[in-house]
Amino acid sequence: MLRDQFPILQRKVNGHPLVYLDNAATTQKPQVVLDAMNDYYSKSNANVHRAVHTLAGEATEGYESCRSKLKQRYNADRAILTSGTTEAINLVAHAWGRAKLQSGDVIVLTEMEHHSDIVPWQMLSEERGVELRYVPVSQDFTLDMEAFEHALDGAALVCVVHTSNVLGVRNPLEEIIEKSQAVGARVLIDAAQGLPHSTVDFQSFGADFMAFSAHKMCGPTGIGALLVTQSAFDEMEPFMGGGDMIETVTIEGSTYQTNEHKFEAGTPRIAEAVGWTAALEWMETFNLENEHSRLIEIASWVAEELRGLGMNVYGRHGEHDAAVVSFLHPTINSEDMAHLLDARGFAVRTGHHCAQPLLHRLGISGTVRASFYVYNTREEAEALVDELRGIVEKFA
Ligand SMILES: Cc1ncc(COP(=O)(O)O)c(C=O)c1O
Repeated sequence: MLRDQFPILQRKVNGHPLVYLDNAATTQKPQVVLDAMNDYYSKSNANVHRAVHTLAGEATEGYESCRSKLKQRYNADRAILTSGTTEAINLVAHAWGRAKLQSGDVIVLTEMEHHSDIVPWQMLSEERGVELRYVPVSQDFTLDMEAFEHALDGAALVCVVHTSNVLGVRNPLEEIIEKSQAVGARVLIDAAQGLPHSTVDFQSFGADFMAFSAHKMCGPTGIGALLVTQSAFDEMEPFMGGGDMIETVTIEGSTYQTNEHKFEAGTPRIAEAVGWTAALEWMETFNLENEHSRLIEIASWVAEELRGLGMNVYGRHGEHDAAVVSFLHPTINSEDMAHLLDARGFAVRTGHHCAQPLLHRLGISGTVRASFYVYNTREEAEALVDELRGIVEKFA
């Protein structure tokens, strides 16, 4: 059984079996990922791209195999390995934004963005005088597409979250990309929550940049990627300088690598790359689409039950949305609710989920969020609803 491959799911929390429902924050790791990283450090640890000895060769192969796997899985021209989604977006802001954008240029964002797809652009805006336009979120938790079309006028870059980490809503990416391309804007997709539950053919998708993190898809923390089309890649200037990203260095100046290494200065995340490859291979051992359908069924059932308990539920659970249920009770404090759940072994998240502009738009300061992933079961969802029913009966 898929679930049995996750050692952490055997543990107890506060004397109760762990029910881990904080998957939108980070997912758990199967044994194959733990073994791959342990094996790497036990048998092959060395630096990459630097020496001819056997261990260095194995380390280089381990690191580069992650890039090859990503390119193959997502059919991408270029895959730059970063520390995660956040660094991938900051890399675009530095390497592409600072090279291509000037005062008066327009970046279109949405109110649904995670802070990591807002703050780098605000910093660039302050530095360069770039104009930021935010597409509002409507009362039905979707983007206001009419406002999006207006905002596109003169846009050089459109940055949009694939799937909201708060609402679970998957945005109409195909339409967004097509309309952005029609005005000549490049498109960046924050796919941190999207790629864990679906896959994509990056070349036919049409976006220029796609950022995501390994740890939200059963891989290790500390590694992620930026997929880039060749034409956008050609417009990127080096961001961090250092070892590995250069071709030659003299006192007078340096020349740079022409491949992805140009953006991977210094010793990279080798064990993490090995672990991510193992996670990506592991994800091919089951049908992600089927698992996703099962989880969406569970999430929409939970959402319905919670409404029945008097909770306000924020989000949508259509077939392409994420299995994320954000909710609030009108009178029970969300932090108290999370503590009560934790005391019974349930791990959920509370707070603003790094999406303060979205919550501001919704007129709230935070939610309780239960997010499901491939190892979660219907029984766990039923246990959560039972627990919440008990809390409401006792405290409301
Ligand atoms: C939609 C979205 N974007 C970006 C991020 C940032 O990812 P990371 O912290 O792995 O860089 C997250 C993480 O929660 C997210 O959910």
